Amino acid sequence: MTTQSVKQSRPSRLPHLAYGGDYNPEQWPEEIWPEDVRLMGETGVSMVSLGIFSWSKLEPRPGQYEFEWLDRVLNLLHAGGIAVDLATATASPPPWLARLHPESLPVTQSGQTLWPGSRQAYCPNSQAYRQAAQALVTQLARRYGEHPALTMWHINNEYACHVSACYCDNCAVAFRKWLQARYASLEDLNRAWGTAFWSQQYAEWDEINPPRLSPSFINPAQQLDYKRFCSDSILECYEVEKAVLDEITPTLPVTTNFMGFFKPLDYWKWAAREDIVSHDSYPDPADPEAKIDSAIHADLMRSLGRGRPWILMEQVTSQVNWRRVNRLKRPGQMRLWSYQNLARGANGLMFFQWRASQSGGEKFHGAMVPHVGTSDSRVWREVVQLGRELAGLDELMPSRVKPQVAIVFDWENWWALELDSKPSAELKMLEQLKSYYKPLFEHNIAINFVHPEADLSDYRVVLVPNLYLLRSQAAQSLENFVVGGGRLLVSFFSGIVNESEQIYLGGYPAPLRKVLGLRVEEFDPYSLGQTNRIQVPGVGSFECSTWSDLLNLEGAEALASFEQDFYAGRPALTRHKFGAGQAYYLATRPEQALMDWLLQEVCGEPDLPEIAQRPAGVEIVRREDGTSRFVFLLNHNAAPVEVGLNGTYFELLTSQTAGPSMTLEPYGVALLKTEG
Ligand code: GAL
Repeated sequence: MTTQSVKQSRPSRLPHLAYGGDYNPEQWPEEIWPEDVRLMGETGVSMVSLGIFSWSKLEPRPGQYEFEWLDRVLNLLHAGGIAVDLATATASPPPWLARLHPESLPVTQSGQTLWPGSRQAYCPNSQAYRQAAQALVTQLARRYGEHPALTMWHINNEYACHVSACYCDNCAVAFRKWLQARYASLEDLNRAWGTAFWSQQYAEWDEINPPRLSPSFINPAQQLDYKRFCSDSILECYEVEKAVLDEITPTLPVTTNFMGFFKPLDYWKWAAREDIVSHDSYPDPADPEAKIDSAIHADLMRSLGRGRPWILMEQVTSQVNWRRVNRLKRPGQMRLWSYQNLARGANGLMFFQWRASQSGGEKFHGAMVPHVGTSDSRVWREVVQLGRELAGLDELMPSRVKPQVAIVFDWENWWALELDSKPSAELKMLEQLKSYYKPLFEHNIAINFVHPEADLSDYRVVLVPNLYLLRSQAAQSLENFVVGGGRLLVSFFSGIVNESEQIYLGGYPAPLRKVLGLRVEEFDPYSLGQTNRIQVPGVGSFECSTWSDLLNLEGAEALASFEQDFYAGRPALTRHKFGAGQAYYLATRPEQALMDWLLQEVCGEPDLPEIAQRPAGVEIVRREDGTSRFVFLLNHNAAPVEVGLNGTYFELLTSQTAGPSMTLEPYGVALLKTEG
């Protein structure tokens, strides 16, 4: 599956930047609904996601549908000028499904059944679940397909957020079928899985099971295939619903909400089947790096949609209820993080949820309308302010973020890298990814994430952190990129195995040795807390951690070397001039000061001509279209700051001229517009 196979998506029908949230009127008496719509009008709500958990209300008994209440809600919303992102309501089956079909319940790796009582209690391979979901979606599409409020479909909700893998007997059967489609024969499978090891050779397909709890390391290729299979099985649930919608409402766009870097689902595959990418973002206000967390997810969403606008489908106005301690967002922080998503390509800012619940497991979760009501509420005032500001910013909608730097990221590699039985269990994909992302973020260098086999022609620089699992096509594409003049940076423990978790023999990283001009002979993973140092002549001495590759040069030059241990003096950072480009290799994880230097060396300075002087903690992001540039200045400091501008600009949020210097309030935002 590559990003090239993405089909033409249906255009968004959003006439405005979307603003709103999950609307769950089924939790409230009907008298409240007109008041909801009136308040929505007051805040500038332009769209709501409706009915996400309403299956048991829509179909209280099998085949007995009750839509009249939903008719009234849709009509009220439409009369209030509010568009509807209508849910297919299949995220939480009603209690009758488990009563009639106990085999539809999911089972854990150790054989434990997960019972109803919360949500998402279904096995993705349960035919009973799929058929019931398909029937409900058919009814919804027929009934509301022509409703004037309906703007897009919201299939299910956060697929796999609680149940990302099921190990039941249904799944065992489905897994065997999936394997039969993947491998030409059982011999092929035995070869790919390396079943000669530990007496695992299969004589019959029926001998193969999900990787259920087992005495020791389960075959890594089997584990990896099971992860692929689980992501695909859940994607099939989505496809079952989407096929119904494609047939009955072929022009309506479809989304399902993602959860950023969510490990169980290969969102490259998923995004290719959506018209609009949407995302739920819950950075932790207690985390000093929350701004980075939020930004990296936003960049992933834009990248999954290949640069198209996406929707922030959920965030919280202030505090969630599912962390051990749920901190409030400080005044201004919700607005700031909202603009951060807008800056990074969102064309909609939505919340979970519209009105805070009175009962249930999320009653302490924040909402646009808090428990205290709207008359004297900080949260409500911030919600109203943001909604009114957004209403004046539709001119942003055609603009895009256009990075020249790409970071290769791939789910299959993430899965494989973090399987057990590796040189180190401490090597974590997202930690490594963030060690690249953070310095880029702090230097305002915009990036896109790309699939390893993506077309790289839009980029000057490609960064490849820990691409352990590397297909030969991807290796070839990286090599061609350098030959054509690109700058490539690859880090340790890359290019080690193929798609079946089999080592490329002959010196790591075999498929990249030519372009990198080196051979890795051994790896030395570090214990937690262990460090070494690396010396970069003319730059300094820096701490490093996590790992050392012991490498031999085969054409590359050493830019830095290790200072300690028996391999002191051996290269830690190399550069290879190859074709018209250059390929760097980083054999360890250096402290951030060196990453700052290295990434500026490889990527160059960002092109932000509007800014003369940027204080620490101010994020700068640019969206642009054919005629205008929109520069977002985002102050993540709790104190005001002065920003130096190169001249004077029109500031869209105040409709005033700004510059040559301007003050940003604590957690303040400015949005400069320039022409040309
Ligand atoms: C999301 C989910 C919502 C709600 C929210 C709470 O994961 O889609 O339904 O549970 O979290 O933060």
